[in-house]
Amino acid sequence: MGPLLEIKNLKVYYAERAGFFNQVVDYIRAVDDISLTIEEGKTYGLVGQSGSGKSTIGKIIVGLEEATEGSVSYKGQDVTTKKQKKALNLNKDVQMVFQDSQSSLNPRKTIGDILAEPLKNFGVPNKIGAQHSDADRSFDPDKIDARIRELLAIVGLPERTITQYPFQFSGGQRQRIVVARALATNPKLIVADEPVSALDLSVQAQVLNFMKEIQKTYGISFLFISHDLGVVRYMTDNIAIMHHGRFVEVGTTDEIFENPQHIYTKRLLASIPSQTVAGRKAKREERIAVEKEFDENRDRYYEENSDPLRAYDLVKLTDTHAVSIQKEDEES
Ligand SMILES: Nc1ncnc2c1ncn2[C@@H]1O[C@H](COP(=O)(O)OP(=O)(O)OP(=O)(O)O)[C@@H](O)[C@H]1O
Ligand SMILES: [Mg+2]
Repeated sequence: MGPLLEIKNLKVYYAERAGFFNQVVDYIRAVDDISLTIEEGKTYGLVGQSGSGKSTIGKIIVGLEEATEGSVSYKGQDVTTKKQKKALNLNKDVQMVFQDSQSSLNPRKTIGDILAEPLKNFGVPNKIGAQHSDADRSFDPDKIDARIRELLAIVGLPERTITQYPFQFSGGQRQRIVVARALATNPKLIVADEPVSALDLSVQAQVLNFMKEIQKTYGISFLFISHDLGVVRYMTDNIAIMHHGRFVEVGTTDEIFENPQHIYTKRLLASIPSQTVAGRKAKREERIAVEKEFDENRDRYYEENSDPLRAYDLVKLTDTHAVSIQKEDEES
């Protein structure tokens, strides 16, 4: 299995304008020189606090934003611009699932109609699964109907769902519908942007479980975006930790959890709540230690006097693990 999607040196800057002539006074560096590779059938996690640039990366992949610099390639083909994405029909292969299922489902359409739409547009793939050939797709209404029922069964919803409307479902059920719709095109990659953040904790676990099962069963790659490192641990093979538009640490999920190197990663880990009294006490001490390390070693992790904090370029630790840290020869 090779790389499915590769992002190289991506920058997304937004102009900040002010004054009578509406001049550009500065740039918001939403994404500031990041690279990542998503392998076929693997799940890649993007974690970071609000405003760190996670959604912007997702939007670049699906073509909702244009890159300022850098490139995106899909199976080796350049898909950086919206035009290139369109030429390749990329939205058949790459689907996006958002946090807010309420606004991504048309309230005036039945679930049957909502699921029929991608099937009518792209045809019904012979079999569900990223590994299956895309060649023969059917536009036969009976096949469309049968596939709608199959998709609902996969996400654990009853057949009567077909004639119902989005408002008749809970948030967790709507997220199942959104995933069923994403599956309809037989995607190779699903970009899931905070897919469970709006849900109750108990429902979050259910939705994560079925997403993981779908990912495994159908061999679909995921870019899984979340501010919650705990959620991402369960879902992913690889993780990138983002801070102010930069990757501060990348690694396998085990490397990030077992051997975190960047102060910001440690901060995120320390903020995962513990279930036990003893655990909570240990967490509190961990948080204090991390804050102390941050105050004392800021220059080790962020460029001097940068505001907002700007992380150094990544330094490789292993083939898979890298951390943004001041290089020895840069030390003052
Ligand atoms: N269209 C836009 N115009 C100007 N600035 C933008 C635009 N979209 C995003 N930004 C800015 O870019 C930065 C990154 O935003 P982004 O939505 O990618 O963050 P995020 O990590 O997804 O945050 P959250 O966890 O809150 O969803 C933020 O500072 C945001 O204000
Ligand atoms: Mg976001």
